[in-house]
Amino acid sequence: MKEKKFKRTTVTAALPYANGPLHIGHIAGAYLPADTYVRYLRLKGEDVVFVCGSDEHGVAITLGAKKEGVSPKQFVDKYHALMKQAFADFGISFDIYARTSNAIHHQTSQDFFRTIDAKQGFIEETSDQYFDEQENIFLADRYIVGTCPNCGNPNAYGDQCEKCGTSLSPRQLINPRSTVSGQAPVLKATKHWYFPLDRFEAWLKEWLVEGHKEDWKVNVYGQCKSWIDQGLQPRSITRDLDWGIPVPRPDAEGKVLYVWFDAPIGYISATRELKGADWEKYWKDPETRLIHFIGKDNIVFHCIIFPCMLKAEGSFILPDNVPANEFLNLEGEKISTSRNHAVWLHEYLAELPGRRDELRYVLNSISPETKDADFTWKDYQQKVNSELVAILGNFVNRVMVLTWKYFDGRVPSAAELANTSEKRARVLSLYQQAHEDLEKSVTEMIAALDGFRFREAQFQLMNMARIGNKFLADTEPWKLAKDDMEAVGAILNYALTVVGNLAIASEPFLPDGSANMLTQLNITARHESHRFWNTHTLVEPVPAGHRLNPASLLYRNVEDAEMEGQVQKLKKPVISTTPMAAESHAPKPLKPEIVFDDFGKIDLRIGTVTAAEKMPKSDKLLKLTVNSGLDVRTILSGIAKHYTPEEMVGKQVTFVANLAPRKMMGIESQGMILMAEDSDGKLRLLQPHEAVMPGASVS
Ligand code: 2FM
Ligand code: ZN
Repeated sequence: MKEKKFKRTTVTAALPYANGPLHIGHIAGAYLPADTYVRYLRLKGEDVVFVCGSDEHGVAITLGAKKEGVSPKQFVDKYHALMKQAFADFGISFDIYARTSNAIHHQTSQDFFRTIDAKQGFIEETSDQYFDEQENIFLADRYIVGTCPNCGNPNAYGDQCEKCGTSLSPRQLINPRSTVSGQAPVLKATKHWYFPLDRFEAWLKEWLVEGHKEDWKVNVYGQCKSWIDQGLQPRSITRDLDWGIPVPRPDAEGKVLYVWFDAPIGYISATRELKGADWEKYWKDPETRLIHFIGKDNIVFHCIIFPCMLKAEGSFILPDNVPANEFLNLEGEKISTSRNHAVWLHEYLAELPGRRDELRYVLNSISPETKDADFTWKDYQQKVNSELVAILGNFVNRVMVLTWKYFDGRVPSAAELANTSEKRARVLSLYQQAHEDLEKSVTEMIAALDGFRFREAQFQLMNMARIGNKFLADTEPWKLAKDDMEAVGAILNYALTVVGNLAIASEPFLPDGSANMLTQLNITARHESHRFWNTHTLVEPVPAGHRLNPASLLYRNVEDAEMEGQVQKLKKPVISTTPMAAESHAPKPLKPEIVFDDFGKIDLRIGTVTAAEKMPKSDKLLKLTVNSGLDVRTILSGIAKHYTPEEMVGKQVTFVANLAPRKMMGIESQGMILMAEDSDGKLRLLQPHEAVMPGASVS
């Protein structure tokens, strides 16, 4: 395929649903590869926008809100804030993290609909659909279960039987029932607007099946081709729902746009929000390249449906590439939000502070680029300790320490090592070999980045450090220091050049480590970095005579103790796996009114847990030792299913300090820890927003 020249790149990362926190599967699937790629483009000096935001519409949101007993707006506000913060804390460098409930997005989506509608680009049709009379909602296919007509599975979904894999429509199910109320749904007539995908079949064959055979990933291309080969049907793009973007037609009262119609338009509205009047060139100029980063479950929407929408609208460019990833599993099992089998990003950041690069490194090195991958904590620990620490960190540290030792922190000069002695000739030949190997790694790393092969690109980065380590080990400057300091200087000068190039090369993958290396080297290397990324050759960012900063360690080993809590957490019993219909999530009714004096009798304090252990013969109770500021006391708390003893140690807790002691299972409990009970029965500690002194009173 001919190389096209582009002026700029628009990079999108799938808009995550604002219905729960982010986990490492999301990060490995779309956000880390996107961030790595965008950092690379920025370093080259390209004009790039990187947009994302929360996907806040759809029936999953309304049902989630109902489950938490809040309004959809309150629900998305909560998760939008949580996700935005977690992305920022992790260092995903979006230019904007928008949200689809913003007015600008509603307007952009409605305009998009109107343009297609004005060209008679939709079909109107009334049909019978399943309706849940108890909940007063039409049911999306996924919210209807029944017996599979093919294999008899009693829990097949309205769109597919997961047991035999047959694609289904809800009306094929035997004895259908609503997963929301558990009741049998009734059929009810309703009018909707359909997007006639079938009209795009010939065009898709040309643009996608022929046009992207070579340059799209095999997993992406294969899924698209098989979808197109099965034949395309009109798809409804409106819904009967009271949460979403109203369909902009006078005869469409009560209807909203289907979430998958408005969500990808969210990329456009985010760019509008970011760039103001300048937004159009990122979406309409044929010299702009559009790249979507997504997980495999979003392939059809981004490679087939959204491009057809863009084509139907008529004024937009089409995606150039969609480097979708497969899924990430966790400890050999599928990541599951409902079973809490996940590593949540915000928890990782809080529990393993200062280890952002570590997660980036491990996720990149197992990136599910061509097939599903498995994350295990053991592997995480092993990769951090034996690669990040032992190869990269070790190399950089050795070079820094040796330069301080022999040259007092000043970059030695790169003396010409002519063939004046056998030893020097050997150093020279080792240097030439290292240089050749390094240049090869740099070229391959950049080719891999261009080809969206981030796993390989990062491997080549680490290879640069490996080559550096080998160069030091082979040249043995500490031995030469006895009689040839000029040669030692030449070796360390080159080793520092390698560290400088590593600082530059690692920015897309390990931004914290990169910044740390630049600080140690006492350089910014902007100009050299630009040259490195554009010429694919090693640069010389640390001139002779330059003063270094003191050496510090890039990465620390992950200790077994750090891993134990994480592994235990995944083994914790599942709290809630019941389907929505079976659960009651209404908040508990209010207790009878009390007067202020009643409240004033309770002495609430903050204490710090100094020790914790499980109570023998009880699966509920933990025995906590609490420094209350006034004394050290024992409190028994029924939280063993929600917190491990290890998790509790060091935590601040709120407790009733003047509760009469009570004996339980032979132990006197001197107080009560306050907990919040979530809708699924999960207990969470009530803690002060910032640490306070033990004994602080709560009022
Ligand atoms: O699968 C998901 O999480 C969707 N919310 C992705 C939407 S991507 C885009 F179209 F906005
Ligand atoms: Zn079946």
